[in-house]
Amino acid sequence: MDASRISIRPFKLSDADDFLKWASDDRVTRYLRWNTVTTKEEALTYIEKVAIPHPWRRTICLDDRSIGYISVKRESGDNKCRAYVSYAVGAAYWGQGIVSAALRAVMSSVFDEFPDLVRLEALVDIENRASQRVLGKVGFLKEGLLRKYGFCKGEVRDMFMYSFLSTDKIL
Ligand SMILES: CC(C)(COP(=O)(O)OP(=O)(O)OC[C@H]1O[C@@H](n2cnc3c(N)ncnc32)[C@H](O)[C@@H]1OP(=O)(O)O)[C@@H](O)C(=O)NCCC(=O)NCCS
Repeated sequence: MDASRISIRPFKLSDADDFLKWASDDRVTRYLRWNTVTTKEEALTYIEKVAIPHPWRRTICLDDRSIGYISVKRESGDNKCRAYVSYAVGAAYWGQGIVSAALRAVMSSVFDEFPDLVRLEALVDIENRASQRVLGKVGFLKEGLLRKYGFCKGEVRDMFMYSFLSTDKIL
């Protein structure tokens, strides 16, 4: 994949058709907190009511067309030192280094954007090996297993906690 074809930008309503292509795939949403989107109307509503108002959610684009997303959700108050990162990309694009590249870009800019932030964290289902590999290869530290920690698709799941600090090195 030619890196110059990949970009990260805010969502627009005109992304609805492209968004629907990847967000309607159960393989993509399997480990996400949100459910598979099934219609153009749902796609528009999601973009308008969730993606655009989100404090920091971007779409990952190939040639400026939406193929995935990456988001950073900061905690509030005394916990604003940390933020939670999540991401996905359409199954047709898996294994081409796209999310690793997007995540590295976020890791290199987000601490400048939010000066109070010192820690990015990610929670990953114990069966989600591709996501664990992404986090490991860009420099996140696997801190440990959180038993029965996250609710996902009707089940309470064991999750691994990963973190990356502002002083850590991006790999
Ligand atoms: C996880 C996900 C984001 C990875 O995106 P991607 O663009 O394919 O990631 P990359 O290509 O940058 O890297 C994937 C790595 O995982 C590896 N991998 C893929 N499937 C794997 C598996 N079943 N077991 C172990 N490693 C696996 C790839 O070989 C690659 O590692 P490599 O570069 O050493 O070969 C993508 O699969 C996805 O969108 N999944 C659904 C949503 C999701 O799970 N989001 C994360 C929630 S925590």
